[in-house]
Amino acid sequence: MNTVIITGANSGLGFECATTLVATREWYVILACRSAERGRDAVKRLFGRSWYKNIEAMVLDLGSLAAIRAFAASYGERTDLPPLSALVCNAGTQVVSGVSRTADGFEATFGVNHLGHFLLANLLLRQMIAPARIVIVSSGTHNPAETTGMPPPRLRDARLMAFPERDAEAPAEKPGVFGRRAYSTSKLCNVMCAYEMSRRLRQEGLSAPDAPITVNAFDPGLMPGTGLARDYPGLAQFAWNRVLPILTPVLPHANSSKRSGKALASLVTDPKLARTTEKYFRGYKESPSSTESYERDKAAALWQASAELVRLTRDETPLKLDVRAASAA
Ligand SMILES: NC(=O)c1ccc[n+]([C@@H]2O[C@H](COP(=O)([O-])OP(=O)(O)OC[C@H]3O[C@@H](n4cnc5c(N)ncnc54)[C@H](OP(=O)(O)O)[C@@H]3O)[C@@H](O)[C@H]2O)c1
Repeated sequence: MNTVIITGANSGLGFECATTLVATREWYVILACRSAERGRDAVKRLFGRSWYKNIEAMVLDLGSLAAIRAFAASYGERTDLPPLSALVCNAGTQVVSGVSRTADGFEATFGVNHLGHFLLANLLLRQMIAPARIVIVSSGTHNPAETTGMPPPRLRDARLMAFPERDAEAPAEKPGVFGRRAYSTSKLCNVMCAYEMSRRLRQEGLSAPDAPITVNAFDPGLMPGTGLARDYPGLAQFAWNRVLPILTPVLPHANSSKRSGKALASLVTDPKLARTTEKYFRGYKESPSSTESYERDKAAALWQASAELVRLTRDETPLKLDVRAASAA
């Protein structure tokens, strides 16, 4: 038996992914949830469906660097758990009502969706036992070539994405547009971060063909009815929760969270994908991501600035830190 950690597993896609992994009865499933109560409730629901005991919730708030470090430390103290061989970075937020901040002052969408998972994955790398897999949940909204109804991403220096008020070239945008663009941009960062982490693990010999640590990105498709639209105005929420779920079968690239949860779980379990890394999946299907997501210089710059922003230190990650990040740390 091995351990899998799923962030944001108390609802939507993360809960359905956990449901599928629990059904295999082969995993020790850790639901990393921001609320202890919602985590406990999710464990109860999963146990009620399966009578499977190897499920637990641990508190993880990705909107606080201290809380992420505390989670990794308390996980590290657990000597009773099977080896950690999978991490699913699923939690996500979308804020459309105005700029929201993490505990460290970062714009919350970028802070939670990208920086939080960036720090978490780095902190857990030393505890992962190869062969192991990391999956980062992105979205079709990262790709301007896809028709998603969302503003296209605007990738900038990570310090400006974390502190958008310092961005002198930022277009004047209404909060809804700003928030939705921050979301699509964070999802582009998710893809670039997956690719960059995969490259670094291989370049530095931490992932080898006989003992791989793979890192892939995943697009679940549109999943109306999940909690993602909780900050939307009333009418839009009504459409998200009541109307769009009925239309899911006829909407392009739309899925129930149950169906996408199964596809996400397959990236963790499918033996055919044991060595597949640095790829983007739309559901079960490997697919190209946006043109910009393949720009390696931008991904390296994002990685370095993210390391500086989360104050990643040499003893926290097995990956080499660039000189500037290490000295800032
Ligand atoms: N729904 C879609 O159409 C769609 C499409 C493409 C991609 N996605 C992606 O799919 C993933 C799951 O979203 P979903 O649709 O299933 O939405 P969801 O039901 O709202 O699930 C999001 C999860 O993330 C958690 N979360 C939010 N902020 C957090 C924080 N600061 N720390 C820890 N956990 C936090 C939420 O916890 P709480 O319950 O405590 O808030 C919740 O468990 C996201 O990455 C999203 O970007 C969704």
